[in-house]
Amino acid sequence: MEPLETTQDPEIPTNKPSPTPAEPSSEGMSPAQTNTTADKEKTPPAGLLPGETVFKEGKASILFPSANEVFYNPVQEFNRDLTCAVITEFARELLAQRGVKVVVPGEKERVVVSLSEETNEADVQTEEKNGAEEPAVTVTVGEKYEHGLRVLEGLAASGLRSVRFALEVPGLQSVTANDFSTKAAALIARNAQYNGVSHLLQASCRDASMLMYEMRGKKERYDVIDLDPYGSPASFLDAAVQAVTEGGLLCITCTDMAVLAGNSGETCYSKYGAVSIKAKYCHEMALRIILHSLDQRAAVYQRYIQPLLSLGGPMWAEPIHDLAFVQKVLSAVSGNPSRFGTSKRIEGMLSMVTEEKANPVKREKLSETSPAFKILSTEPSLEACFTVREDANPQSRKRHLTRFQENPQAFWGPKARAKTGGGISTDLQEKRKKCQNKRKNQITDSSHLKDYPCKRFKQGTCTYGDKCCFSHNLEQTNVE
Ligand SMILES: C[S@@+](CC[C@H](N)C(=O)[O-])C[C@H]1O[C@@H](n2cnc3c(N)ncnc32)[C@H](O)[C@@H]1O
Repeated sequence: MEPLETTQDPEIPTNKPSPTPAEPSSEGMSPAQTNTTADKEKTPPAGLLPGETVFKEGKASILFPSANEVFYNPVQEFNRDLTCAVITEFARELLAQRGVKVVVPGEKERVVVSLSEETNEADVQTEEKNGAEEPAVTVTVGEKYEHGLRVLEGLAASGLRSVRFALEVPGLQSVTANDFSTKAAALIARNAQYNGVSHLLQASCRDASMLMYEMRGKKERYDVIDLDPYGSPASFLDAAVQAVTEGGLLCITCTDMAVLAGNSGETCYSKYGAVSIKAKYCHEMALRIILHSLDQRAAVYQRYIQPLLSLGGPMWAEPIHDLAFVQKVLSAVSGNPSRFGTSKRIEGMLSMVTEEKANPVKREKLSETSPAFKILSTEPSLEACFTVREDANPQSRKRHLTRFQENPQAFWGPKARAKTGGGISTDLQEKRKKCQNKRKNQITDSSHLKDYPCKRFKQGTCTYGDKCCFSHNLEQTNVE
C-alpha cells in the first residue's frame, strides 16, 4: 500500500513577509489597498461592498469584510507560503511520473541547492538533463489540467490559501475551498471570482469531516488535503486519512502547542493518544505525537503515513548555562552578601547551577542491589567531550538563513476568532485604547501610598520609620 505523505506545522516559525502585488482579476473588479478609517467613509472601489477592504498575500488579492465575520491571520503567511511550495513540489513529482512537466513562473532553470557539510558555500547546480526527452505536456499555474491534482482545503475561512493554490501551484485539476460558515463560503466564492480563478476553485459550505467522509470512495478522493483548524486538528484526522488518495499529501497545521508541548498531558492523551510532558524537547515531541496519532488512524484503514516535512520550532540543544559566567556572579555575590536582600538564595541557586554537571545521586542512599548502584559502580570507559564540533554547526546557521519572522507592525497577529453568524466585534486596538487608564483606584504617584496602611508596621516589623512610603497612622488611612 502506498503511503500517505504528510507535512505538519504545529507551531509556525515566523518570517518577514514580502508583499507581492497581486494581479487584478479580469472580471472587472479592481483590487484596492488595505483600508484606513478614512477609506471606510469613502465610496468603496468598484467590486467592493461597503466597509470591505482588499489585502494582498502572495499572488492573491483577498476581499475582506470590515465586520469580524471571517477569520484571517497574517502571521500564518509563512505557513501558507510553505504549503504552496510543498504542494508545488508534490505536483512536480507526481505529474512527472505521468510524463507531465510543471512550469513555475519565475523558475528559469530548475536548480538543486545542496546544504552539504563538505562545502562552505551552498552548492547550486543546474539539474542535469539525463538525455530523457522533454515531456510532451506542460502545465502551469492558474490553468486547469484535467489530469491534474484535486486539492481540498477543509477549513478555508476567506479562501486566501485556496486562491493562492489556484494562482501559485501548477498542475491542478480543482481546488475545493470548504468552510461550514455560510459567510465564509460566500466570501470564498467572491474571492475566487475577484482573483479570476473560478474555473479552478469551488467554494463549499459543509462540515469538513462530513465532506471528507463522503469523498472517501476511491474515485472521489483528493490528492492533497489541507487542514488548518482553530487549535487542534484531532477531530478531522480520521476523515482525512480516508479521503486522501494513495500516496496523497496531507498538510496539517496544529495551533494547540500548549497541549502538545506538555501543558495539559491528559487533554493531549484524549486528542492524540499520547501524554505530552514538559520538556526541553517539547517541539519535537509535539511533532512526534501528531505523527503517531495520524499513523494510528491511518493504520485502522490499512494505510500508513510517510512524514515529508515537519516544523515545530527551534530545538535548544546547547547548554543552558555558561559556567564560567555563573561562577563570576557567584563569587561576586558571596564576597559581598550585603549587596542584596536575597544574597543567600542567589548563592544557593548559583551553587546548585555549578554543580549540575556533577552526579546528583547520593551513593550512600542507594541499595547495593539497585540498578543505579550497579551502573554507578562501573567506571566509564568513554569520556564525552562537549566542545562544539565544527561539523555540528549546520550550513543553515552559518549562512544566517532567516528562521524567525519579524512583525511588520505593532499588534500583528491573529485577531479575535470570527464570530458565529457574523456581527461586528470590537476591534482589539480600539478596545485597548478604550480601556487604557480606566483601572479603578489606580496609583500613579507614590505620594498616594501614604493613604495606605503599612502592613509591616501593623505586624510590628517595619524598619523604615518616618521614611516608609506607607502610612503608620493606622486610624487615619482611608483604604484598608
Ligand atoms: C483557522 S481558520 C482557517 C484559516 C485558513 N485556512 C487560512 O489559511 O486563512 C479555521 C476555519 O475553520 C472553519 N471551521 C471550523 N470548524 C469547521 C468544520 N467542522 N467544518 C468546516 N469548517 C470549519 C471556521 O469557520 C474557520 O473559518
